Amino acid sequence: MTTYAHQFRPSQYTATLLQVIEQQCLDRRMTSVLDIGVGSGVLLAALAKLGAQQLWGVDISEAAVESSERLLGVTQPNVARRLLIGDMWGPLPAEQDFDVILANLPHFPARVSEIDRPPGWTGGDGRLLIDRFIGALPKRLAQSGVAYLTHHDLIGYPQTVRLLESLGLEHRSVLEWTVFESPERIAAVSPEVVKENGQGLRRYGDYVFSNSRILEVSVGR
Ligand SMILES: C[S@@+](CC[C@H](N)C(=O)[O-])C[C@H]1O[C@@H](n2cnc3c(N)ncnc32)[C@H](O)[C@@H]1O
Repeated sequence: MTTYAHQFRPSQYTATLLQVIEQQCLDRRMTSVLDIGVGSGVLLAALAKLGAQQLWGVDISEAAVESSERLLGVTQPNVARRLLIGDMWGPLPAEQDFDVILANLPHFPARVSEIDRPPGWTGGDGRLLIDRFIGALPKRLAQSGVAYLTHHDLIGYPQTVRLLESLGLEHRSVLEWTVFESPERIAAVSPEVVKENGQGLRRYGDYVFSNSRILEVSVGR
């Protein structure tokens, strides 16, 4: 049985999030953990290896949930799991909270080719899913819980900080790196977005680089 799903293959963002949770979640108490937009399920497999006891995953794609089910069935057959098809927080029981919540959601602020992104991944203006993710964290993070999300700065880091602060959430940037954007992807971003959020862009002819980060978010006490 192969557990590799090409459609949900890990990206550099997945790998970076993996690096962060391997460093930050080693000694963390993890009764329930969640990956919103679970994809291949590989990040839940990593959290299970780090000691998580109940794995929760949500994805809008049925094929993603099947891939996660297959992967976790092979790598972590004895760890409890609930993998749900649906939109963001929608399929989760209303009162369930989590010790660790992950999100590596589509949020590039432009419509890009289906080679880069399957049609079901709607990032909207880039903020659509990120704002919905952050908006539910005060309710969904357990006491001392923590969330890690991937963040492309072309969606506006100051806007993200304002939203986090308005919700009373603590945050820090745990890892930052530079990402290459192809001419096709950068050409798809509107001039307005570049003007508003493009301060971190560096251009060398047609070679364009931007900033990305992993944010750690927790409930301020
Ligand atoms: C970039 S992939 C990340 C997958 C995996 N977490 C990883 O890091 O490799 C984003 C995932 O979000 C899912 N997704 C997109 N829109 C969603 C939504 N509205 N609700 C839940 N999942 C969504 C996609 O189907 C996809 O599996």
